[in-house]
Amino acid sequence: MADQLIIFDTTLRDGEQSPGASMTRDEKLRIARLLERLRVDVIEAGFAASSNGDFECVQAIAGIVKDSTVCSLARANDRDISRAAEALKGAARSRIHTFIATSPLHMEKKLRMSPDEVFEQARLAVRFARNLTDDVEFSAEDGSRSELDFLARVCEAAIKEGATTVNIPDTVGYAIPELYGLFLKTLREKVPNSDKAIWSVHCHNDLGMAVANSLAGAKIGGARQIECTINGLGERAGNCSLEEVVMAVKTRRDYFGFDVGIDASHIVPASRMVSQVTGFVVQPNKAVVGANAFAHASGIHQDGVLKARDTYEIMRAEDVGWPTNKIVLGKLSGRNAFKQRLQELGVMLESESEVMAAFARFKDLADRKSEIFDEDILALVGDESVTAEKEQYGFVSLAQHSETGERPQAEVVFTINGKEFKGQAEGNGPVDASLKAIEAHVNSGAELLLYSVNAITSGSTESQGEVTVRLQSAGRVVNGVGADPDIVVASAKAYLSALNKLHNKAERVAAQG
Ligand code: KIV
Ligand code: ZN
Repeated sequence: MADQLIIFDTTLRDGEQSPGASMTRDEKLRIARLLERLRVDVIEAGFAASSNGDFECVQAIAGIVKDSTVCSLARANDRDISRAAEALKGAARSRIHTFIATSPLHMEKKLRMSPDEVFEQARLAVRFARNLTDDVEFSAEDGSRSELDFLARVCEAAIKEGATTVNIPDTVGYAIPELYGLFLKTLREKVPNSDKAIWSVHCHNDLGMAVANSLAGAKIGGARQIECTINGLGERAGNCSLEEVVMAVKTRRDYFGFDVGIDASHIVPASRMVSQVTGFVVQPNKAVVGANAFAHASGIHQDGVLKARDTYEIMRAEDVGWPTNKIVLGKLSGRNAFKQRLQELGVMLESESEVMAAFARFKDLADRKSEIFDEDILALVGDESVTAEKEQYGFVSLAQHSETGERPQAEVVFTINGKEFKGQAEGNGPVDASLKAIEAHVNSGAELLLYSVNAITSGSTESQGEVTVRLQSAGRVVNGVGADPDIVVASAKAYLSALNKLHNKAERVAAQG
């Protein structure tokens, strides 16, 4: 019988730690729903003790997710663990995930604690968490660079105190697949009660080996839980990518011999949604979810695929959720067809008023663009004017003038807390003028770190432009995303969206005291 592999998704926690990837409550709820449809076993919804905003997000996700276990991260102390337990109260199934660093470097330089103190804190934290819930995960941060005998002692104690999962992260992405697999295997052999817990891997991608390390951790090391994120989102170079690790296990079941419960047909919509929400564009040649992942350009390959698909394809595009018939709706489509397509894409809007707002935006878009693709619909439901969330800044309209040899001018009408303002400015180009027109009123002083434009659908100049704007202010980095067939309008929307995120982050920090 094949072994079951648990898929633990941490897009909403470790993924969100990626600079600029912060998500609003509504965005997190939308992603959590899609993760549940994907049949992820565990959703790490956040780090409840880190801020009131995070607490509320974990609580809200715990309230809506029924089929996956909802988990909150907590440092190894009573306050963090109590906050996690409180946030998870409403969950059908919940897990507390507590961690402390165990490598000599982290213990000495970061924690300034002796190994004995770390050992004791880990033990007491697991004991405390286990009194609050039956499902406790213990992580030895920087586990892959920890001293084997000490790590074995900590893991044994954690299991004795009731940890049901023990996770050995490669926190800094330093591991090599074979060595990491053997490290885990030896560690498990050294822990006398190792069979009383599920072993887990959590790999970062600094050397591009997060997926390979995770697979080696499972195949060689005996781990039966893999922690990962959609699109590999995460700190620095990111985490192990869910879509890659899941499709590796499914496609090469002959070698791995694992079963996973994931419904792969939601992989591409999930990838698209996370990209759209965070503004982190998926590279075209990214495995499984990149735009070129199933595109064959060379004549020999095309000929081969036409004759027998498996000559050059090891997976079927439709199995991972690539739409077969990409044109989905048009100007004459009604509300029910629109609603059904939303459902098929895994998007559940919370209220009828959100559906109405999204449908109005869809009609508006269909007037300007004859073919509406799935990607257009996903961009449209990500639009802040559709979601129920109350935002500080809202886009109303834009007019701009540019002519060869003249300095472009723009006039942007936008709302601040519902009140309309009009900003005017000149700039080097129409985008520059539009953003300056907004700044003229808002005076955020934020530094623009990144500006990028992507066509939402390929192959036509009719496509919507999706703009990502990354801003930095007071040490906070956020990404704003805006979509529109007019890229100047998309830019203004993205800028306002980034300002909203800066504002929400500032509020969260203020709420923390
Ligand atoms: O990378 C890491 O070590 C982590 C732990 C908190 C699990 O994210
Ligand atoms: Zn991590």
